[in-house]
Parts: sequence; C-alpha cells; structure tokens
Amino acid sequence: MKKFINATIYGNPDSHEILVENNQFKVIGNDLGDADEVIDLGGRLVLPPYVDPHLHLDYIFSGLGEGNANISGTLFEGIQRWSDNKKTLTEELVRERAMKGIQKEVSKGVQFIRTHVDITDPNLTGMKALIKLREELKSIVTLQLVAFPQEGFFRYKGAEELMEKALEMGADAAGGIPHFEISYEHGVESLRRIVDLAIKYDVMIDIHCDENDDPNSRFLEVLNALVTEKEYGEYTTASHTTSFASVENSYANKMMGLFKESKINFISCPTENAHLQGRGDTYPKRRGLTRVKELLANGNNVAFAQDSIADYWYPLGNGNMMNILDNGIHLAHYTHIDEINKAFDLITYNGANIMRVNEEYGIEAGKPANFIVLDATDAYEAIRERAEVLASVRNGEYLFKRAPRVNEIEIDFLKEL
Ligand code: FE2
Repeated sequence: MKKFINATIYGNPDSHEILVENNQFKVIGNDLGDADEVIDLGGRLVLPPYVDPHLHLDYIFSGLGEGNANISGTLFEGIQRWSDNKKTLTEELVRERAMKGIQKEVSKGVQFIRTHVDITDPNLTGMKALIKLREELKSIVTLQLVAFPQEGFFRYKGAEELMEKALEMGADAAGGIPHFEISYEHGVESLRRIVDLAIKYDVMIDIHCDENDDPNSRFLEVLNALVTEKEYGEYTTASHTTSFASVENSYANKMMGLFKESKINFISCPTENAHLQGRGDTYPKRRGLTRVKELLANGNNVAFAQDSIADYWYPLGNGNMMNILDNGIHLAHYTHIDEINKAFDLITYNGANIMRVNEEYGIEAGKPANFIVLDATDAYEAIRERAEVLASVRNGEYLFKRAPRVNEIEIDFLKEL
C-alpha cells in the first residue's frame, strides 16, 4: 500500500492524501493512516493523466528531413505530400515513428491517446501496425484508433470497403473528411455512410469537419443533424470545425441550440490550426480555432489536442499538452481567472469524455491509480508557469519520476525563486 501525502488534488480541494492499493485508488481523503510507503508531494498539484484525443501517429515525424517540408503551409499540400510518400510505407516504419511519438507524449504526462489512422491504403499498413501497438503498450498508454479516410471516403477509390475492413479489424471509431470530397453532395453522402457504418459496428465517430476558413462550409451542420436523428451525438466528435469561427453570429446562435440538443463533442487543435488556417487571409488573419469558449458555455464538451508532430501538415510539436493548453486558452480568450482555474479540463477530463474512458479515468476510489504530479501548487500557478510534469503514475507504478529543475550555478539574486 502506498500513500501520497500533501497533494493538491485538481477539483478536490478538501482532500490531500491518496491511498493506492493493488494498482487502484483505495481512498482519497485526509489522515489515512499507515502505509508501506509514504510519498510526500510537498503540496504539488495532482491531476488525472493528460489526454491527447487527436493525434496522427501513422505519419508522425514524416516531415523531418530534406525535401519533406510543406512549402505552402496548407492542408491540401500536406495531403498531397503524404499521398506521394505513403506508397512506400511499411509496417516497420509506422511502428518506429508511432513508438517515438508515443514516447514523446508519455514522457510529458499523457496516458490516453486517440489517433487517426489513414485507411486510404490498399494494405491498411498503418492500421495493422497500430492495432499491434495498441495491445503491446496498453500497460503504458490507452490508445484508440480512428479509421480515417485521409484521401476522401469517395475521392479515394475503395475507401468505403477499406473502412469497413478496418472496423472489422477492431478500429475504435469511424472518421471522415467531408470538406475534402469533390462536392458538397459527396461530402454529405460520405457523412451519411460513415454514421451508418459507425452504428453498424457500434463504434464512436470522429470527423475532421470543416477544417477550412470557408464561412459557408456546412458539414458540421450535416453531421450534427445526422447524429441527432440517430441519437448518437454523445458518441460523436467534430474535430477542428475551424470554419465555424467564420460564420455569422446569427447562424452560430442557431447551431448552438442544435449542438446542445445533440450533445456532440468538439476537438480543437490550437497550434496545428493556428499554423494552417488564415493562409488565404491578408490582415486580419484568422486564428484557426472553433468557438471554443462559446461551445463550452453552451454546455458542449470541448477538448484540445496536439494533432501533428513534425509531419507534412505541421513542422513543430513535441507532445507537450501544456504547450497546447497555453496556446489554446490564449487563442480562445479562455483567460478569465475562473476559466484558467478549470482550463485543465480541456486536456484531461474533456478528452476522456470524448474517448469515453470515464470508468477508468479520474482520481476516485476504485479507479485505476493513474495520475500525474506537476511542479506547481495549484492550477493557476501551473498554467501561468507552464509547469512541468514531475511524475506520471499508471496502475499505481511510476512511468517516470523526475526531480524539479535546479540551477548548477546561480547568483544569490535567483536563490529565492
Ligand atoms: Fe487531424
């Protein structure tokens, strides 16, 4: 039995001790009595692990190396470059890249990742590699796989059959990219079929939806309508929805009522879309985020995600969810003190809701003892200082533990810091 004392538990200000037994949280409270091992957290902030609910592991790090940069910085050039490159893809290469990406994220406190895997590939190379990794790494990280038709459900010949095959192989969710299809009608029909496939295979839905700056892009409306009719909104996520930031307020207000009804979820990828969107603008340039603050106020679930690391779409990224959160709350104006105090929800609980892993997620008695410790004493300080993750615990055991940073040499002036 292990006891963690002097903890500041996010969302539970009255309890400061955590008792862990048999890989689970046994009790959360105070004065919890004896234990085999007592770990003093010195008042530091304890959170459930970071969740990255939207990451492309099959082409992670594909943008590294000479000649691989996306020159225009647009979504469309990224898709073309990947399309050319993936013809020579092997399971070993996907595994190698994905492993490196997962290591990056886990080393920064992530324990739950939803990854979109391109199924517009006759060999389903990425899906095969990631299904193996999902099983192999489950003691370290919970991976969910979205069967994602990167080159279009209709635009890529045979994508529908390939998606069905991927769902039969065990993908956790059905994806789509309606704004990339060859017409509005094709986009709508793709959504219809993807929703039907998801229901047939009893999996979640996660659509790359309206990832553009076109105020007339309407696939979010269509997706929302379809899942409302099927009462599938809680199992559905609209990723990106950047165009929704450009629509008229009167239209947005109408849609807010419909989103409330459907309970559809949203994912915003702040760094990726700040990079990709607004490329056709002079000034002012659009920020690339959907209406995060307003959707949250509307009662819809919104999470932030990394999306890409050094691939054909985005040259940066390192799996640090604190960086994503920091960028996201700035770009979304989610910076009132009350908002900052609950902003960790965007990279923890809200992502877990999207992945529907609630039963195993959260610092509560009876759940697996998964948590992280930050080098700060409350949520506000942690976000303002962009605090580092000092420890990540999964099933009661450390994935890592590191000492807070110290200077080797410093002048007296800095000693009080
Ligand atoms: Fe994506």
